[in-house]
Amino acid sequence: MFLLRFGVTLTLLFTFSLGKTPTFSIDYKNDCFRKDGEVFRYISGSIHYNRIPRVYWKDRLLKMYMAGLNAIQTYIPWNYHEESPGRYNFSGDRDVEYFLQLAQDIGLLVILRPGPYICGEWDMGGLPAWLLDKKDIVLRSSDPDYIAAVDKWMGTLLPMMKPFLYQNGGPIITVQVENEYGSYFACDYNYMRHLSQLFRSYLGDDVVLFTTDGAGVGYLKCGSIQGLYATVDFGPGGNVTAAFAAQRHAEPHGPLVNSEFYTGWLDHWGSRHSVVSSARVAKSLNEILSMGANVNLYMFIGGTNFGYWNGANGPFAPQPTSYDYDAPLSEAGDLTEKYFAIREVIKMYHKIPEGPVPPTTPKFAYGAVVMKQLQTVSDALETLSLSGPVKSVFPQTFIELNQAFGYILYRTHLPVDCSTPTPLSSPLNGVHDRAYVSVDGVTMGILERNKAIAVNVTGKAGSQVDLLVENMGRINYGKNINDFKGLVSNLSLGANTLQGWTMYSLDIDEAVSQGLLGETKPTAPPPPPTALSLPAFYGGSFIIPDGIPDLPQDTYIKLPKWRKGQVWINGFNLGRYWPSRGPQVTLFVPANILSTAEPNNVTVLELEKAPCSSGMCSVEFTSMPVLNATVKSIAKQHRRLFSKEDLL
Ligand SMILES: *[C@@H]1O[C@H](CO)[C@@H](O)[C@H](O)[C@H]1NC(C)=O
Ligand SMILES: *[C@@H]1O[C@H](CO)[C@@H](O)[C@H](O)[C@H]1NC(C)=O
Ligand SMILES: *[C@@H]1O[C@H](CO)[C@@H](O)[C@H](O)[C@H]1NC(C)=O
Ligand SMILES: *[C@@H]1O[C@H](CO)[C@@H](O)[C@H](O)[C@H]1NC(C)=O
Ligand SMILES: *[C@@H]1O[C@H](CO)[C@@H](O)[C@H](O)[C@H]1NC(C)=O
Ligand SMILES: *[C@@H]1O[C@H](CO)[C@@H](O)[C@H](O)[C@H]1NC(C)=O
Repeated sequence: MFLLRFGVTLTLLFTFSLGKTPTFSIDYKNDCFRKDGEVFRYISGSIHYNRIPRVYWKDRLLKMYMAGLNAIQTYIPWNYHEESPGRYNFSGDRDVEYFLQLAQDIGLLVILRPGPYICGEWDMGGLPAWLLDKKDIVLRSSDPDYIAAVDKWMGTLLPMMKPFLYQNGGPIITVQVENEYGSYFACDYNYMRHLSQLFRSYLGDDVVLFTTDGAGVGYLKCGSIQGLYATVDFGPGGNVTAAFAAQRHAEPHGPLVNSEFYTGWLDHWGSRHSVVSSARVAKSLNEILSMGANVNLYMFIGGTNFGYWNGANGPFAPQPTSYDYDAPLSEAGDLTEKYFAIREVIKMYHKIPEGPVPPTTPKFAYGAVVMKQLQTVSDALETLSLSGPVKSVFPQTFIELNQAFGYILYRTHLPVDCSTPTPLSSPLNGVHDRAYVSVDGVTMGILERNKAIAVNVTGKAGSQVDLLVENMGRINYGKNINDFKGLVSNLSLGANTLQGWTMYSLDIDEAVSQGLLGETKPTAPPPPPTALSLPAFYGGSFIIPDGIPDLPQDTYIKLPKWRKGQVWINGFNLGRYWPSRGPQVTLFVPANILSTAEPNNVTVLELEKAPCSSGMCSVEFTSMPVLNATVKSIAKQHRRLFSKEDLL
């Protein structure tokens, strides 16, 4: 590490001491990039710092460097850094400057993709949900409210990035404007021109700005504009010559660039796990490199959608917590057969750094942890809803209730006796995205966007109706990215529209990390077993012995027989589990959230049914990931492999 850092610093000092400024540019005569005047080609890999704990950034970057890459590519998700308007966070896991510095120290150049829209299977494509405060905002267009927010954000971000430009002694060689804009319905050239001027005004005239679109002339039509170098993206298996011909249509001269060469593919809950063979990836990569083209491998490491950060595709299909992507480095940063296959291809074109590749980090099976039931969500409302409830005649959305992520409890009362099963329904499919329904503390069923718009209820007039509504992740691609959450339209009971709502915003993460959830009062006699149980918390703890030198190590948590929910360890929100739908079964637990000094606390919010009613229940820590459990394919794959939808 020291030598690497020294080498890079020395090069820069040397360049500066000769009075030469580093340069990076496009050579249109010779169809290539030039770095400090020399012909240059990048072989890059995507890594999203926002999907990897900060303590592992160096390890992952070093593995990328040792694969023979000379550059990395990352997005900057706006919503990760500005969770509410004007409140910025660039610290800890969000310290993008530190990430860029590490990349440079290791000897990697950077291709920066600051959005403002990024797609990336990230909530709302990286756009902050608070943009929806204006209900009819046209995102990714010249809408003045959208532009005002973009201008403020870029006015904060781009000046931070400027010292990291290659020209200024940093690692950033190129900067992407927007993302696959040609796939978006708005086709607003004024918007793209505005962004282009904005980026220029902060970053200067020398930086290479570019766009990325699907490798088809149709995508490039609305995606490319003058002044931004047009590049394309495409996966393995197709006709590389034909794909680059699409880029040549927009850019008759200049370097060939595939900005997203897919090493794997994304997953959706309820669909089969995506797998792409190493041989297929290696073959197409070889073809790309043999043409002298520049390439970025998307993803080189996918990482994890911790917390609530996963996105969704339309028709509504949310992505799971793991973003493993079947990439050459696994979710946990493990070396795979694909890693070495890619390295062998790169070796044929570039000199590979000498020395050993950093090994896969060891994983530890801590075993089973007994879980005890804590309060139900309804019982814990006072702890969970710090701001207290909001009342209104008709239901309000998450944004109206000033909550971006997680869960909100909607409460009302039965207006009439329902002695026979009566449908409680969302005629306009307005449950976004899933509601766990109970009447007077008895579970009635589950409503789910696009899948279950009615559930039968019984109860007396005046009975309390609770719907715990889950935001499962906002749509991140296509025309439906204004994805409001909560009850976004009225609910009916038989022929009546339900009225008189009391809505509880829930700060579950705060309550979990403060350890505020109490134990449940035992009921005597115990309730009879039912198909569903009320959404409730469960807690357990385990000790990692002190004094064993290599502990704590990374691990995976699995929740056999649990159905669906959210899991935290020591207050860190690991993400959603849903083994009953799959394909993901285990969640990655990075060692840095574990402690050897104190007991480690596991908190589970189970939404459907915990396997605890018959006594003891447990979760289990294992050393092997399972991301590909066979699922009954309840939905067709929404974005087919390597194809783009929604081109309207
Ligand atoms: C900023 O983000 C970091 C990393 O996620 C987090 O630990 C920290 O609490 C956040 N700071 C604020 C003020 O929210
Ligand atoms: C690939 O596309 C090029 C250009 O469109 C075409 O000339 C060539 O025949 C194609 N190759 C194959 C194997 O289909
Ligand atoms: C509700 O109950 C009625 C009558 O028992 C039944 O026909 C109907 O299928 C049920 N609907 C749902 C959504 O379960
Ligand atoms: C619910 O219905 C009322 C009366 O028709 C209407 O004014 C209101 O906008 C509706 N609310 C939602 C969220 O659709
Ligand atoms: C786990 O919870 C216990 C009891 O609240 C607390 O003392 C301990 O510090 C927690 N452990 C960690 C690692 O936060
Ligand atoms: C899941 O992946 C494992 C490890 O790669 C493999 O051994 C197993 O056959 C796969 N299972 C299914 C159902 O595809």
